[in-house]
Amino acid sequence: MLTIVLFASWQIRGRMLDARLLRAAPDSILSDPGLTRHAVSIAKPAFAKDCAACHGKDMKGSHAKGAPDLTDAVWLYDSGEVTEIERTVLFGIRSPNRKARNVTDMPGLGRSGQITAGDTRDVMAYLDKLQGKAPPADAAALERGFKIWNDKGSCYDCHSEDGKGVSAYGAPDLTDKEWIYGGDRKAIFDSIVHGRHGVCPAFIDKLRPAVIRALAVYIKAASLQAAAPSGAKS
Ligand code: HEC
Ligand code: HEC
Repeated sequence: MLTIVLFASWQIRGRMLDARLLRAAPDSILSDPGLTRHAVSIAKPAFAKDCAACHGKDMKGSHAKGAPDLTDAVWLYDSGEVTEIERTVLFGIRSPNRKARNVTDMPGLGRSGQITAGDTRDVMAYLDKLQGKAPPADAAALERGFKIWNDKGSCYDCHSEDGKGVSAYGAPDLTDKEWIYGGDRKAIFDSIVHGRHGVCPAFIDKLRPAVIRALAVYIKAASLQAAAPSGAKS
C-alpha cells in the first residue's frame, strides 16, 4: 500500500514539474536548477530511445548519418536558443511536417552538370583557404576556386561570401572545424558533387510537449558545458 502511495505521489510530482516546464519561458529554464534537473531526468531516456540512433548515445553525432554533434556550440539553424532547438525537435528538418525547417538543401552541383569534377577540385582548394590551411602549390587552382565560389558554383549564395554559412537556410559554416558529413577530401567532394539532404524527423506527434521542451533544455545544457573553458571537450 505504502509503495502505491509513494509511486502515486512521485507521479503527481512529475506531472506538476512537467506543467512548470511548459509554463516557463524556455530560455529561462536553465537558470532554475530544480527545473533543469527535472528536464534532464525526462530528456535522457527520451534521447536514448528516439535520438541516439542518429545523433549517438554521447550526442556527438555521426558523419555517416549526417546527424550533427549536438554538444558543440555550432548551430546549423538559428543561434541555439532553447526555443529554437525546441522548434527543430517539434517540426523536424526537411521532414514531411509542413512547419519543418526546409528552405534549401545542398544541390548536387556535379551531378546536375553545373560544375565539373575539375571545378570541384578547384573550389576545394578555396575551401582549404577558408579552413585556414596553407596555400596550395597550385596558386592558379585557388584563384579558379575563388571564382567558382562566387560565380559558377553559386556557393556564396547559400554559404555567404565569407563562407560562414547562413543559419536561416541551414547552410553550414565552412570555415570552422565542425562537419556534418565529415571534413576529409572524399566527404567534401561527395557533398559538392552529389549534394546533401539531411532529414531530422518531426517529434510533435511522437513525444509529449514536456519531453520535447526537456530535450531542448538538455541539448542546450550539453552545448553550454562543451563551450565552457573547463568543458571536457576533446
Ligand atoms: C533519423 C535520424 C535522426 C533522428 C532519429 C533524430 N535526428 Fe536530429 N537530426 C538528424 C539530421 C540528419 C540532422 C541534420 C539535418 C541537416 O543536415 O540540416 C539533425 C539535426 C538536429 C538538430 C539541429 C542541430 C543544429 O545544429 O541546428 C537538432 C536540435 C536535433 N536534430 C535534435 C534531435 C532530437 C532531440 C532527436 C530525438 C528526439 C533527434 N534529433 C532525432 C537526424 C536525426
Ligand atoms: C542552394 C544553396 C546552396 C548552394 C548553392 C551551395 N550549398 Fe553547400 N550546402 C547547403 C546546405 C543547405 C548544406 C547542408 C546540407 C545538409 O545539412 O544536409 C550544405 C552543405 C555543404 C557541405 C557539407 C558541409 C558539412 O558540414 O559536411 C559542403 C562541403 C558544401 N555545402 C560546399 C558547397 C560548395 C563548395 C558550394 C559551391 C560549389 C556549395 N556548397 C553550394 C546549401 C548550398
